Amino acid sequence: MIRSVVRGNGAALPRRIMKNADFEGMVETSDEWIVQRTGIRQRHVAADDETTASLGEAAARAALGSAGMTPADIDLIILATSTPNNTFPATAVEIQNRLGMHHGFAFDMQAVCSGFVYAVATADLYIRGGLARRVLVIGSETFSRILDWNDRSTCVLFGDGAGALVLEAEEGAGAITDRGVLAASLRSDGVHKDKLFVDGGPSTTGTVGHLRMEGREVFKHAVGMITDVIEATFGEAGITAEDLDWFVPHQANKRIIDASAKKLGIAEQKVVVTVDLHGNTSAASVPLALSVAVADGRIKKGDLVLLEAMGGGFTWGAVLLRW
Ligand code: ACO
Repeated sequence: MIRSVVRGNGAALPRRIMKNADFEGMVETSDEWIVQRTGIRQRHVAADDETTASLGEAAARAALGSAGMTPADIDLIILATSTPNNTFPATAVEIQNRLGMHHGFAFDMQAVCSGFVYAVATADLYIRGGLARRVLVIGSETFSRILDWNDRSTCVLFGDGAGALVLEAEEGAGAITDRGVLAASLRSDGVHKDKLFVDGGPSTTGTVGHLRMEGREVFKHAVGMITDVIEATFGEAGITAEDLDWFVPHQANKRIIDASAKKLGIAEQKVVVTVDLHGNTSAASVPLALSVAVADGRIKKGDLVLLEAMGGGFTWGAVLLRW
């Protein structure tokens, strides 16, 4: 059976770091409130010359470098983003061009914070279906461009950045010991649209709009949705939380991460947390967290890794893979 195996990963962050204290003169908030409620200590914010395409390109080049590949080796690029450079063409196609890649195909995937998990699950289907052999999966965001910088309940939560993986087809035995993507479970439910959305768009206001969130409402649903979709993924793979080496959740809020891990019985030392460094970078958060845990030597070849995300829509999902 064909498996989609991780060959390389990479990340890119804007140059500018904004600390919690930097908000204190802008809105009524404090470092203490932000750290206590969210675990966030800093985030990176893109300058004018740093865009979803430029950050995505840098993360893609880093991932290709770590895979020992060049753009010529890639058949497909999937970019998870909710902050494209333009309404169209797809920013994935712009990244394809920036990489000097004029073969294959590329498209954007929009599932807000769940985008990267959706994109990995989708890439796996293209690979297993024989439509692509090597896929660049990128999550890249510039949420700073859609924040209302006067709204303290949202502007302190988000950051910019990008992360990427290279997946390649490899023959596996069809067993849980195979490397590559082993199981995935995706969900969405539009009934929750008004709890987390952007109040603009090409077909409604003709503007880009700003992010609006009922944080308490999102929080209320998050842990239950996350644990449900992970339990479905465990069931599909025939494993339990104890079999995991690493849990790499979406980095929105440390309290949501802790509560989900506790409910699932995942030991604290197996949880990768980077929300303190990056804030919520939406579709970039999972690959950025992966890049930190790979770089510091925690995630190693052969480790069983669970990715999870939940975001606007609502959308939510999980992917289990052996690194
Ligand atoms: N500084 C100081 N006070 C603040 C701030 C701030 N930055 N923001 C809000 N407050 C105030 C509120 O006004 C409120 O004051 P009040 O009691 O006088 O009304 C008080 O703090 C408590 O507000 P809550 O919203 O109840 O705070 P909560 O503990 O729920 O934390 C938070 C807010 C951090 C937003 C939390 O609800 C959360 O993390 N929600 C989930 C976010 C998430 O996971 N999103 C999903 C992914 S995002 C995506 O898909 C794009």
